[in-house]
Amino acid sequence: METTRWPGVHREGRDLYTVNLEPGTRVYGETLRTVRGVEYRLWDPFRSKLAAFLLAGAPESVLPPVRSGLYLGAAHGTTLSHLSDLWPDAAIFAVEKSPSSFAPLLALARRRTNLFPLLADAQLPERYRADVGVVDFLYQDVAQRDQAGILRENAEACLAPNGRAILMLKARSVTQRRSPNAIVRETRGRLEGAGLRVDAEASLAPFSRDHVALGLRR
Ligand SMILES: C[S@@+](CC[C@H](N)C(=O)[O-])C[C@H]1O[C@@H](n2cnc3c(N)ncnc32)[C@H](O)[C@@H]1O
Repeated sequence: METTRWPGVHREGRDLYTVNLEPGTRVYGETLRTVRGVEYRLWDPFRSKLAAFLLAGAPESVLPPVRSGLYLGAAHGTTLSHLSDLWPDAAIFAVEKSPSSFAPLLALARRRTNLFPLLADAQLPERYRADVGVVDFLYQDVAQRDQAGILRENAEACLAPNGRAILMLKARSVTQRRSPNAIVRETRGRLEGAGLRVDAEASLAPFSRDHVALGLRR
């Protein structure tokens, strides 16, 4: 098992791993491996767009060690669980609006004390900003029409100056009438207009054909 440029992420061949915060327990059926007494969880790029972004060559700056994070669109916590492995001492708030996804998320957070789930709509950050406070990492994967607006409003509500953000942009959710390239360009322009600098962009094919990842800094 080798270290990588992203602190806490390990690699063997093409496969990425994080150290399991809950030894012996799987979150989404992933492979567990023990090497010299340390248990690692395989980080599946077909299940987690963040793993796909790293494999697409994301720079070190996209995933710095953080003390607090806000994750929008946590679903059952697949990707979130790897952030929980990476940052055991952080407080990571996880927003999910679907009650059926929230139940498994809640169960995950009961076992992992660095996760704080919120049953809420990411389009209404004013409802949770007081609970979340100021964070140094913001992640958004909600596949909604106004992904740029949702990111901008959450950054304004909760992201620290110099904080980092990652947007998993699904161009087809924005509109099917314009090309994905045009939508990425427009989204970048809107985010930059709101004071978020884009310093990494990658297509997530072949793992996720419809998505482009953007790494940003406030
Ligand atoms: C693609 S899934 C997220 C997968 C997850 N990020 C992962 O990698 O493990 C998108 C999630 O966003 C949630 N979602 C969609 N719109 C939302 C909104 N406005 N506020 C909060 N969650 C939302 C959906 O219910 C769904 O669970």
